[in-house]
Amino acid sequence: MKTQILNRNESTEQAILQAGEMLKSGKNVAIPTETVYGLGANALDEKAVAKIFEAKGRPQDNPLIVHIESTDKLELYCDDIPDKAYKLAVSFWPGPLTMVLKRKSVIPSSVSAGLDTVAIRLPSNEYARRIIAASGCPIAAPSANTSGSPSPTKAEHVLHDLDGRIDAVFDGGDSEVGLESTVISLVGDVPRLLRPGAVTPEMLKEVLGEIIIDKAVTQLISSQEKVSSPGMKYRHYAPRAKMTLIRGSIDATERYIKENLCEKMAVLCFDGDEKLFSEYAFTVTYGAENDSKAQASRLFDALRLLDRDDVERIYARCPKSDGIGLAVLNRISKAAAFDIVDV
Ligand code: TXA
Ligand code: MG
Repeated sequence: MKTQILNRNESTEQAILQAGEMLKSGKNVAIPTETVYGLGANALDEKAVAKIFEAKGRPQDNPLIVHIESTDKLELYCDDIPDKAYKLAVSFWPGPLTMVLKRKSVIPSSVSAGLDTVAIRLPSNEYARRIIAASGCPIAAPSANTSGSPSPTKAEHVLHDLDGRIDAVFDGGDSEVGLESTVISLVGDVPRLLRPGAVTPEMLKEVLGEIIIDKAVTQLISSQEKVSSPGMKYRHYAPRAKMTLIRGSIDATERYIKENLCEKMAVLCFDGDEKLFSEYAFTVTYGAENDSKAQASRLFDALRLLDRDDVERIYARCPKSDGIGLAVLNRISKAAAFDIVDV
């Protein structure tokens, strides 16, 4: 299959219409969103949805997020919508927040991997919203990467993983946020944070009051455990090399790394640290130490840069965990299989 690149050589308007047409007719098109690129399919078309799982090599028990173009579409696809959902929509939609609600049967069960719930999101990226509107259907879209690799924040990342396996990618430039959306479940008595993102726990608490932070956010979940969000149990974002997070000051980190030198070593560090390590390690930076937002937007690209044959061991500096930092820490911890050393 030849993967078409939309929006590079034609007018944007024409490319949006083409992407919308392709999605409507059952094709798989990767689309930009403010979080990461998503691999879209018409959520009402089971065959198109099945092709997403195939192209990504995604486990069948990992449900997809359905993307809509306006809040009023919620009632079409969800049942028993609590007031809290509308409050969240007013505060954070369009934007990087996904809500898990009761699924109406118009959404095929395969979209939700057999669950009676469905995850819904209204993205803020202009291209995404216009493409969804042009398709005239809800768009199921997981991140547009091969299952297990870092989510794509550039059209190039999508092509690296899926060229020849999907019908098209719409190039909308770099994703702004750089980490996937916050996922919150509203089906239990108390809202439960399943995946941290740019909409932070503090922001959610301001609207919802109490929330529960699911254990998968901060801990390694074994593949046998029953989890609220199936996606959280899979090893994710991981370069081929073994990675360890080093939590502590730059001086203590440098000391630790010097005492634990390895062949084919790389250091993932903050801007400015690289000169300390570059003599004996391949270095990649992912933002300034105090800039969690920059770290969020650069982490996945940095992990991809580390995924090369001459890197077999990675030491990474551990990010701060407040605000969006919790999401950065969650993703980098998963990339390191929660191997964290305190120094
Ligand atoms: O920012 C994002 O959310 C991106 C863009 C493309 O919108 N999408 C994304 O999709 O990250 P994906 O498939 O890579 O991650 C979806 C996450 C998984 O952890 C999945 O388990 C969870 O959402 N999820 C989906 N439906 C669910 C449901 N019904 N109940 C619980 N968790 C659900
Ligand atoms: Mg994903």
